[in-house]
Amino acid sequence: MHTIIEPFRIKMTEPLKITSRDDRVAALAAAHHNVFLLDAEDCCIDLLTDSGTGAMSTEQWAALMLGDESYAGSRSWKRFKASVTEITGMPHVLPTHQGRAAEAILAECVLNPGDIVPNNSHFDTTRANIEYRGAVALNLPCLEAFDTQAEAPFKGNMDVDALRACIAEHGADKIPFAMMTVTNNTGGGQPVSMANLREVKSVLAEHDIPFIIDACRYAENAYFVREREEGYSDRPLIQIAQEMFALADGATMSCKKDGLANIGGFLVCRNDAWAEQFRNLLILREGFPTYGGLAGRDLEAIAVGLREALDYDYQVYRHATVEYMVRRLTAIGVPMVRPAGGHAVFLDARQMLPAMEPLQYPGIGVVNALYVAGGVRAVELGSVMFGHFDDKGVEQPAPLELVRLAFPRRVYTQSHFDYLIEVIEQVWRERDAIPGHRITFQPSLLRHFPCHFELLK
Ligand code: F0G
Repeated sequence: MHTIIEPFRIKMTEPLKITSRDDRVAALAAAHHNVFLLDAEDCCIDLLTDSGTGAMSTEQWAALMLGDESYAGSRSWKRFKASVTEITGMPHVLPTHQGRAAEAILAECVLNPGDIVPNNSHFDTTRANIEYRGAVALNLPCLEAFDTQAEAPFKGNMDVDALRACIAEHGADKIPFAMMTVTNNTGGGQPVSMANLREVKSVLAEHDIPFIIDACRYAENAYFVREREEGYSDRPLIQIAQEMFALADGATMSCKKDGLANIGGFLVCRNDAWAEQFRNLLILREGFPTYGGLAGRDLEAIAVGLREALDYDYQVYRHATVEYMVRRLTAIGVPMVRPAGGHAVFLDARQMLPAMEPLQYPGIGVVNALYVAGGVRAVELGSVMFGHFDDKGVEQPAPLELVRLAFPRRVYTQSHFDYLIEVIEQVWRERDAIPGHRITFQPSLLRHFPCHFELLK
């Protein structure tokens, strides 16, 4: 059969509110034209994030009931630790309430002001945690990553020559660790090849620089390696994941992505001295080391979810959805990051609105038009999220203006995606009417969450 079906059936439903265009115009104005400030129930198809928004399986719901809520040494902790250890092979496992808590502990224990942390591309919370320590979060994506139309198989890779140059320029002493984000969320959900991970590891090993994987979408990356990299086509995903982690000295994880859970994360490492420091801070910030910031039942759901994410049929279906979207939208002519990434479709707002200045935030224009057209909530990954102020206080745009439509795991069906295509098509046809935006309120850190906009006319 050619039709790839959802490899599950639905046992419980959750109603979606159908709103009118007028309702949505009013809701967006009340939210200061920032979709983060909308009520979720006013979003018909909510693609703001694939983080913590997935549907759990029957096995996970059953596991919840086994949750052991003992403060220390619970059975649930043992099951969580067994899953994490099997997949990552790391001796030290620290549960956290989500990914950024793992990042914060790592940054606080290891970084000093003026340090440099290279990555293929830092996610916003990773960057913020590093900058909060006075260190520099440096993005070193491969060159293909800047060409949204280039059909390269591993556009999430790091530019290894740039990494060498960075070490030569700053010295290994200034680089307490380097990271690789798999898949590269900020760069379009694009995968990292095993060959690139190996090369990065070998450069770092020459200089004794620890290598940390931001593993949020490790299972999606393992699937891409299997499909696209020579020598992996018959390997089980768990083996590919294990090979990835074997290259690293540690990892940060948000279990809200490929843990298939609604909350949770972890920090793992090999170094005993680091683990000791991490554990002390974990107790201070998150909780006793056998639960982190999590309930026993969360640990259970994650223990099951981490393994389910490595189910091949699940990954085939998940990637088929993204590829279907990219194929249909390409046929209409909508510019987007290609090839298809792992967890989302990334529209290229700069190419959609070529006449608009980057600091009029074309990505916000497209996000808001999608909401008004069909109640679809997307997110801007452009100059609002990743722009910065230079030494003179002048706002500098981001290199790309992307709009991410992130797909929650096991939540929406084929007809939801067909509806989504119709909404995007309408926005594309009527793109000349999309206005620019101006920020009227912003905090100094992570401004995209609470900021307010007004329309430029
Ligand atoms: N690293 C990456 C690559 C991420 O995508 C995220 C979260 C985090 C770290 C932080 O994890 O949310 O559990 O604290 N990304 C979400 C997103 C929020 O929408 O892409 P967290």
